[in-house]
Amino acid sequence: MKIDYTNATFSLSNDSIRSGHALAESAFKTVVQKSGRGNDFLGWVDLPVDIKDNDLADIEQCADGLAVCSEVVVVIGIGGSYLGTRAVVEALQHSFSGLSNHKRPLLLYAGNNMSEDYLHDLLEILDQKSYSLIVISKSGTTTEPAIAFRILKQHCEQKYGKEDSRKRIVSVTDGARGALRTLATQEGYATFVIPDDVGGRYSVLTPVGLLPIAVAGYSIRDLVKGARLMREELLAHPNYADNPAMQYALVRNLLYQQGLKVELMTSFEPKLYYFIEWFKQLFGESEGKELKGIFPAGAIFSTDLHSLGQYIQEGTRQMFETVLTVEKAHYHVPIPKDEQDTDGLNYLQHRSIHEICHIAQQGTCQAHVSGKVPNIEISIPELNELHLGEWIYFFEMSCAISGYMLGVNPFDQPGVEAYKRNMFLLLGKPGVR
Ligand code: PA5
Repeated sequence: MKIDYTNATFSLSNDSIRSGHALAESAFKTVVQKSGRGNDFLGWVDLPVDIKDNDLADIEQCADGLAVCSEVVVVIGIGGSYLGTRAVVEALQHSFSGLSNHKRPLLLYAGNNMSEDYLHDLLEILDQKSYSLIVISKSGTTTEPAIAFRILKQHCEQKYGKEDSRKRIVSVTDGARGALRTLATQEGYATFVIPDDVGGRYSVLTPVGLLPIAVAGYSIRDLVKGARLMREELLAHPNYADNPAMQYALVRNLLYQQGLKVELMTSFEPKLYYFIEWFKQLFGESEGKELKGIFPAGAIFSTDLHSLGQYIQEGTRQMFETVLTVEKAHYHVPIPKDEQDTDGLNYLQHRSIHEICHIAQQGTCQAHVSGKVPNIEISIPELNELHLGEWIYFFEMSCAISGYMLGVNPFDQPGVEAYKRNMFLLLGKPGVR
């Protein structure tokens, strides 16, 4: 993984970067020494080394069991109990996954919205497919997945009978508390535990993400290995100059102080759409509090250059851009020669599409920089489990450092409760006043 922020520094003085080193190093130390706010939620720091071979084997065995009896596995969860899985799976799977002949079950998602039509459509598909359910909720009480699970559980029991359906339902939840834990114990579902000291948005490397990712057929060992390698690299370098997580955290923090309140995470790789969604949740929930924080936004290029591009180039100057680059494509699709050359594309005939894309990216960066949009580039050599694991750990660490630099607790989310309380009051939930 490489980070390049030379295109972001035109608006930052060397002095401001130099004087920020100490702050970044101190925030990093606070994370590693577990001495800051929210320090009871730092289990993710050691997760890549705490997960043992037999934990991974248990997850793989359960995943294989679901895979043999299911064309579809529905992952029920929201926020941190959903986005990490989708980020990894969509980055790795076929672009037309539902239509490809991938040998493992197709993952579908539920409980991540409250659309009745969505649930109707899902049930219609599940009438026709063999399926299993993975229900994920740390609290075990979140309304969206709880509603979806009640409906899907009943559908599953009606389709397969009570006994067989128990073998098709796996829960991932707290070790002792919550309605889902109680239900799972009552029904005898296979259950994986979310460690107490890992919060939802930092939980992709627990069974929350690992189980569904393994069901979809991807190597959770490589994913964890990538995170482990990144952990080793970051922990071995407590100095700013050699620690990319500190560098990213500091540069975005300085840009924020200059009035750039929006970070637009972009990529020219559409398979990273959900990785960007995961990033948005990670940083948005971790930093957006106490009336502070960068607003994390996302865009996929070149698609969005034809929609948001105009605004980025010439609209209100309030954003900087972080570009996720994948250096190598897996496949080559040649541009054929055309004798007539009516479309005038023969000049591109000897270029790969990936190379053209890379040049488009360079041109975009130059244009945005000239439009005063600072640009940070974070790249990996190719899209695979190992590099995604590196990115996951890198962004988690950067987010924690950045949150401490901002002076907030990066591990709570008190603001999420406000809508829930109003909703429960309006719905007349017993016990809510
Ligand atoms: O990051 C978080 O803590 C949240 O986004 C949660 O993951 C989300 O609200 C879902 O919570 P739960 O897993 O308790 O259902």
